[in-house]
Amino acid sequence: MNSVKVGIAGLGTVGSGTVNVLKRNADEIARRVGRPIQITHIGARRDNPACELGDDVRVSRDVFEVARDPDVDILVELIGGTDDARELVLTAIRNGKHVVTANKALIAEHGNEIFTEAHSRGVDVAFEAAVAGGIPILKSLGEGLAANHINWLAGIINGTGNFILTEMRDKGRAFDDVLKEAQELGYAEADPTFDVEGIDAAHKLAIIASIAFGIPLQFSRVFTEGISQLTTEDVVAAEQFGYRIKHLGIAKDTGKGIEMRVHPTLIPQEVLLASVNGVMNAIMIDGDAVGPTLFYGAGAGAEPTASAVVADIIELGRALTADHDERVPYLGFHAESMSEAPVLAMEDVVCSFYVRMHVYDKPGVLADVTRILSENGISIEALQQKDPEDSDTASIVMMTHRVQEKNMNRALTEISALDAVRDNIVRIRVETLDA
Ligand code: HSE
Repeated sequence: MNSVKVGIAGLGTVGSGTVNVLKRNADEIARRVGRPIQITHIGARRDNPACELGDDVRVSRDVFEVARDPDVDILVELIGGTDDARELVLTAIRNGKHVVTANKALIAEHGNEIFTEAHSRGVDVAFEAAVAGGIPILKSLGEGLAANHINWLAGIINGTGNFILTEMRDKGRAFDDVLKEAQELGYAEADPTFDVEGIDAAHKLAIIASIAFGIPLQFSRVFTEGISQLTTEDVVAAEQFGYRIKHLGIAKDTGKGIEMRVHPTLIPQEVLLASVNGVMNAIMIDGDAVGPTLFYGAGAGAEPTASAVVADIIELGRALTADHDERVPYLGFHAESMSEAPVLAMEDVVCSFYVRMHVYDKPGVLADVTRILSENGISIEALQQKDPEDSDTASIVMMTHRVQEKNMNRALTEISALDAVRDNIVRIRVETLDA
């Protein structure tokens, strides 16, 4: 029986993991696909001692050789970045190859173009590994939960950020120190600002939201706020109110449009997501038929990510002989049936807030603050004032009831202008994740 011929471009952490999983589980994978998977061609700038290649594998230093090789059915793009990766994937598609990629930035930013090209050539593009590493979240949404109208989803989809927040809370460690460790562990992006400023999570959220709601990929419409401004003071204060700060990607169908946002979020300590610690990822999905579901696992690392890459190779290997229109559509919905639901502006989002400010400790300040909140229709749920000894500064921490973002912005601008306010006001959105 003919084997499925696979070419891999990029032999870094995920590339070597993919080679090792394909080799180790070759028999079982062949039984699942119905024929063997054979790595015929590797494109890599250098060898990787983490994996051994057989003598029958062609090795090229130019990855484009793999995309043009007639002896490749499926190109696996693992070079990362967007410019070369886009060119490589389009070259493979134009040469009639199916594509598997783990590249979230590529799909989030160029996916619409890539799918259009792939559709016109009758080939498939699969990208399970682009989101949450080993957690099969895209297949779950596009297939396992395909019966549902998805109401909302919320996920911890950046392991580095979650690791930093966990260490800050549990051990009181400094931000930079923890980030350095995440880099040493190989979890952080090449540019770690992608992790801490939420860009990596926004790439992933744009992809998940498209598959959840059948909207085109709209990375530029994701509201993105990172964790670099969070302080231990806020982490501790959130705990005192019964909440935990997590960096979440949230997508909701409000009925008027889709919310897509990535930001630090206070969530109740008792919800399962609050217990997802370290570099682990987890995504909660609420569907109208299934109710709340939770998917948990490793969001990065050689073999967890390879698990998703190889699953895509298996899926495409099984489907090689089927017409491409009969397979699962790229974004789970057929291209001609995509929704035109607008992505909502952040100003229209409604949620509760945690607000913390440092003010001069003198009569009338709290009255001024609460007057401004009230004039903007903001109701306080809980309030705590701490007056450190030997200081003329008080820390006011409060939780509000639900309010439109626009009103909160206006109130915070007015409060910031008070003479008594000493530095930047911190505001963190609150989600109760009720299903
Ligand atoms: N930098 C990413 C993370 C790797 O920390 O989750 C996986 O996308």
